[in-house]
Amino acid sequence: MLTEKDILKKLNWFYSLEMNQVSLYHAQSKKVNDIYLKKTLERVAVIEDQHVKNIADMINQYGGKPTGVGEFVAPLSGKVAGDIIGASGTAGLLKANIALEQKAMADYRDFILKAINHQELSDLLWSNLIDEDLHTAWFSNYM
Ligand SMILES: [Fe+2]
Ligand SMILES: [Fe+2]
Repeated sequence: MLTEKDILKKLNWFYSLEMNQVSLYHAQSKKVNDIYLKKTLERVAVIEDQHVKNIADMINQYGGKPTGVGEFVAPLSGKVAGDIIGASGTAGLLKANIALEQKAMADYRDFILKAINHQELSDLLWSNLIDEDLHTAWFSNYM
């Protein structure tokens, strides 16, 4: 059984993850020269920012405060962390982004299974999950 405390803890994890995605894609969009990739990263950062806001709203709804937690990139390898800032070119950057999106998707899927009795929360998790899936598909297709 998922308690409200568990839900808030999980939501704060996603709050951090989504904030990190915003800053990552924003930073990448400033770095890359490829105009199509640049514009896409800018657009994806806007969508990640919507996730930050919808997660924050849900945290408030459960009576919590969006605080976030640190070090959520830790599950990713050092190699991937290096690629995240674009050290190994476009292919490395796309590969790192796909790894990050897949980590987010796995966590959303896991939370969805646990949040089965929380309709509004579940709907939100589904909607963010599908966005992450679309990002993954775009990054994979562009490789
Ligand atoms: Fe997101
Ligand atoms: Fe995403």
